[in-house]
Amino acid sequence: ARIAVLVSGRGSNLQAVLDAIADGRLDAEVAGVFSDRPDAPALQKVAPALRWSRKPRAYPDRAAFDADLADAVAASNPDWVFCAGYMRILGEAFVRRFDGRLLNVHPSLLPLYKGLQTHARALEAGDAEHGASVHFVVPELDAGAVVAQVRIPVLPGDTPETLAERLLPHEHRLVAAVLALAASGRLAERDAQVWLDGQ
Ligand code: GRF
Repeated sequence: ARIAVLVSGRGSNLQAVLDAIADGRLDAEVAGVFSDRPDAPALQKVAPALRWSRKPRAYPDRAAFDADLADAVAASNPDWVFCAGYMRILGEAFVRRFDGRLLNVHPSLLPLYKGLQTHARALEAGDAEHGASVHFVVPELDAGAVVAQVRIPVLPGDTPETLAERLLPHEHRLVAAVLALAASGRLAERDAQVWLDGQ
C-alpha cells in the first residue's frame, strides 16, 4: 500500500512508519511527505523527491492551500493518507476528497481532549489513565470514528512533558499497528466504531 504522510513538526510518528516499513512490520511505502511548514524537521526524514511543502500564508485562503495540498497528495497516488502531527485543520473539501482513507493520530483517549494541550488537560482533570487514538478524519476536529487506542497509567508527579514522553513510544506502536491493518486492506471506516466497541 502507498501511504501519504502529512506532517508539521519533528516527525517521530513518520519515523515510526519508516521504521515499521524497514523492519517488515508494515507492508507499505511512503508515497510522499507533505507539510504546511517548509522547515519541519520531519521532511528531512525522506528523500527530497518525496517532499512537498508550502507556506499557507502564500495562499489567498485556507481553501486555496488545501486544494494545492490535495492535488499534491493525490498525485502521489496514495491508498491511505496519514496525518502524523499535522497541526493545521483540514477543510471539508480535502476531507471529502480522501474520505475513507484519511487517518490521524491524536494524543488523547478520544473523545476526551480534542484539540491541543491534551496531556495538560488529562492531568488537570485528575485522570488515572491517558493515551493516544488513531481515528478517521472528518471535517469536525478530532471527531471521526476511532480505529484503535493505546492507554497508559498517569503516574504521581507526572507533568505534561513526562506524560507526553512516556506516551510517545506507545503512540508509535499504535500507529504502526493501525497502518499495518490499513495496508492489509482490512480496515474500513464503516467498521471503525464497531472495532473499538468490540475490543
Ligand atoms: C504527536 O503527539 C501527535 O499525536 C500529535 O503531535 C505530535 C507529533 O509528534 N498530533 P511527531 O511530529 O510525530 O514527532
